[in-house]
Amino acid sequence: MSRSAHPAGPRHADVLPEGHYSAPAADLNALDEKVWSRTVTRDADGALTVGGIAVARLAEEFGTPAYFLDESDFRARCRAWADAFGPAADVFYAGKAFLSRAIVRWLKEEGLNLDVCSGGELTTALDAGMPAERIAFHGNNKTVAEIERAVEAGVGRIVLDSFQEIVRVAHIAQRHGVRQRVQIRVTVGVEAHTHEFIATAHEDQKFGIALADGQAAEAVRRALSLDGLDLIGVHSHIGSQIFDMAGFEVSARRVVQLLAEIRDEHGVELPEIDLGGGLGIAYTSDDDPREPHEIAKALSDIVTRECESAKLRTPRISVEPGRAIVGPTAFTLYEVGTIKPLEGLRTYVSVDGGMSDNIRTALYDAEYSVALVSRTSDAEPMLVRVVGKHCESGDIVVKDAFLPADLAPGDLIAVPATGAYCRSMASNYNHALRPPVVAVRDGEARVIVRRETEEDLLRLDVG
Ligand code: LLP
Repeated sequence: MSRSAHPAGPRHADVLPEGHYSAPAADLNALDEKVWSRTVTRDADGALTVGGIAVARLAEEFGTPAYFLDESDFRARCRAWADAFGPAADVFYAGKAFLSRAIVRWLKEEGLNLDVCSGGELTTALDAGMPAERIAFHGNNKTVAEIERAVEAGVGRIVLDSFQEIVRVAHIAQRHGVRQRVQIRVTVGVEAHTHEFIATAHEDQKFGIALADGQAAEAVRRALSLDGLDLIGVHSHIGSQIFDMAGFEVSARRVVQLLAEIRDEHGVELPEIDLGGGLGIAYTSDDDPREPHEIAKALSDIVTRECESAKLRTPRISVEPGRAIVGPTAFTLYEVGTIKPLEGLRTYVSVDGGMSDNIRTALYDAEYSVALVSRTSDAEPMLVRVVGKHCESGDIVVKDAFLPADLAPGDLIAVPATGAYCRSMASNYNHALRPPVVAVRDGEARVIVRRETEEDLLRLDVG
């Protein structure tokens, strides 16, 4: 692990090329608590520690790249969501953000429910002992085999996503002699991502059944007419990484309006609504997410108000946060390899992972932060692009950020807020070995998902 000197890249605003970045933080060694998990701090030597363990020790024991998940932070966030919504609501953790058997056990212990969207997620949930009645099963194209398993297991709800699925689930339930509890996923004509909020045109997508043109009302009619189904409510999910509550307001209003129409037409007051997930987290210091209690209050106020004006009994609310629970609780630890300063542009810092462990930058132009974590440095800030080791120029982990100009091969850097949609979307591109997820808590670290090995690759390749 040499720490050789190398020519530093461009450093200051007068030579900064185009890109999306704020000015470098006054102190590059400072850790913004918005983006790091709760037990992260620097020790007396300047090394970052999580759960009381320094990153050098973690790197030595578990290797890099690796995801380190702050278990007590994860559990605290689960409790914060459960407490914020209280006993009159249900919090379903969205397993697609990241799921493993340890996660399922923690959710169970902290009183959360679980949203799964594939047979694989369902198996993981059941295997780790999540009671079936606390599981919601989602997906726009659940296979017959998946529906069979969900019905047999007795999942608490299946979220119906199409007219065909209404019939499919009803038949399967009838064949099993049960009335399956279901919700209908409706598209409310709102799609919200981060700061933008667009209130039209989003029926043009594969999920759900449109409220527009009476489609959702027709779906309700059919679901109510089928013996195999127990329609308990309506579901809406409007997008990802949302900070503005306006989209949820419109969604809640439209869903409550549908409940009122159902009451008027069928004389039935559906007891539940699910407002989905999508709550934003801080990936960089520029992001200002809301606290669970603010979100809970905003949502329940809207629903209560709308129900009062429609003279409806207030339904039980559920929400499905994934990213907002697991996202902030993990960081990815990388070792710095090749450093390539490009005069007048930026310095490319290559790490030992890349788009195989974090596809979000390449896929969504997502923004991340990065810090030198094996030590502190008083060197000047240097504009960097953190890139992976894959054969692809789009293999970018952090597009624009500042690291100290004395960064050297062998240093450890970490990208915070990678708990959601990084390991769960990881790939084997270039036969990369997917990194482990290591849970850290109170001075102890343990692997909850092990690193893939070359034997794993060869085992799948049957020759
Ligand atoms: N409920 C439903 C029905 C969903 O479709 C989703 C996410 C969630 C809940 C959880 O959303 P969250 O609270 O985690 O934002 N791969 C993308 C995100 C895709 C989200 C898909 N659905 C990303 O990396 O940003």
